[in-house]
Amino acid sequence: MLSDKMQEKLNDQLNFEAFSAYIYMAMSAYFESMDLPGFSNWMRIQTQEELFHSSKFFDYINDRDGRVVLKQIDGPPTEWESPLAAFEDALKHEKIVTSRIHALAKMAMEEGDQATYTFLQWFVNEQIEEEANVRTIVQHLKMVGKEGYGLFMLDRELGQRVFTMPTTTA
Ligand code: FEO
Repeated sequence: MLSDKMQEKLNDQLNFEAFSAYIYMAMSAYFESMDLPGFSNWMRIQTQEELFHSSKFFDYINDRDGRVVLKQIDGPPTEWESPLAAFEDALKHEKIVTSRIHALAKMAMEEGDQATYTFLQWFVNEQIEEEANVRTIVQHLKMVGKEGYGLFMLDRELGQRVFTMPTTTA
């Protein structure tokens, strides 16, 4: 059984993952408006990843006989100065997600809630990848600068991304 406090915090994270999906969908729309379909595709896939993360919290709360309570999702930003600015914001956001996951894991440990602690380890590992993926794109954007050809090539590369459902269920 989840503690009331843990249930509330897990519901908050479910909401925050949905908010993340909304941010990346807004970035996808921004890239569409810039005629960068590859960047837009990357962000749409990221949106799916975040919805998957949110669903994991949904399932976990239910599996522990808790109560899922869906809350209002904040509106995302809609404009960025440049593709680099958007990805820098994405990196900033992922760092916030990481710190939230770590805080949750710390709380689970303090409560002696082994099951929640173990559940959260999937996210601890996932966040390493989440940050690394975005950081790489930030670096590539810095390399190409505002140069049209580099941006075009990067757009083609990011257009290759596809969503693959993670096979780990823990
Ligand atoms: Fe669900 Fe990108 O953190």
